Amino acid sequence: MARNVVVTGGGTGIGLEVARRFAEAGERVVIVGRRPGVLDHAAQEIGTNVTPLVCDLADPDAVEAALPALPARIDVLVNNAGSRETVLGAGPHAVLARWRGDFERNVLTAVLLTESVRDRLTPGSGRVVTVSSIAALRGAGSYGAAKASLHAWNHFLAAQLGPSGITANIVAPGTVAGTEFFGPRLDDAEVARRSARTLLGRIGESGEVAAAVYFLASAEAGFVTGEILHCNGGELLGR
Ligand SMILES: NC(=O)c1ccc[n+]([C@@H]2O[C@H](COP(=O)([O-])OP(=O)(O)OC[C@H]3O[C@@H](n4cnc5c(N)ncnc54)[C@H](OP(=O)(O)O)[C@@H]3O)[C@@H](O)[C@H]2O)c1
Repeated sequence: MARNVVVTGGGTGIGLEVARRFAEAGERVVIVGRRPGVLDHAAQEIGTNVTPLVCDLADPDAVEAALPALPARIDVLVNNAGSRETVLGAGPHAVLARWRGDFERNVLTAVLLTESVRDRLTPGSGRVVTVSSIAALRGAGSYGAAKASLHAWNHFLAAQLGPSGITANIVAPGTVAGTEFFGPRLDDAEVARRSARTLLGRIGESGEVAAAVYFLASAEAGFVTGEILHCNGGELLGR
């Protein structure tokens, strides 16, 4: 039977490849993001089994308003939406904006939705997969701290959902090409610099992260919970 899958940030980058992977396997996928045009384009590009849903997941009113449009039974929830706050500066107002922004963008987007739909997760087989980052373990200021918060929260979530037979895991990617995350900052020199930090000598592809998400959402991964699956070409250990 086809599963109901919700992929946040499913309109672009890693989330788009995650949505594609599930849709091509015949699952029903809802992709969530803030830009209707981007979501519509993604749904058309994938072709079948994909429904766009516009929602700012950092806004509790928007999450509440979106709930009726989400499936009554959710088999797989992929918390992938996130981005890096771009406010610069060292003054307390800039620091506050950066830290608050990164927390809202990367933690609240996952927590508000997951807590709102936790009673819809399928007992016995439900899966929650949350995308954090290598930055959670190797620094990166407020962004890394926000992603690290997801790791602590995931352990708590796995403990709460475990008695219902539902797993909760993290995928922590290293640098991934072809997404909106870095924009023009990921030029050739930056790709070379980041590639050199890995054991494979290259940065990753969105599809490779999607494969890790797909595994953790599979029936075969039913005894894996509370874990962090690193997907970074060996960058975490380094040379
Ligand atoms: N690319 C990398 O190298 C890398 C490395 C490690 C971890 N990650 C993580 O991977 C995840 C996916 O990033 P990506 O690289 O694929 O970048 P991306 O192309 O920018 O994707 C992020 C997606 O999240 C959505 N989104 C952001 N804020 C949202 C909100 N408040 N409500 C709803 N949707 C929201 C965006 O759509 P809208 O703007 O339309 O809302 C966008 O589709 C992120 O959590 C990122 O932190 C990326």
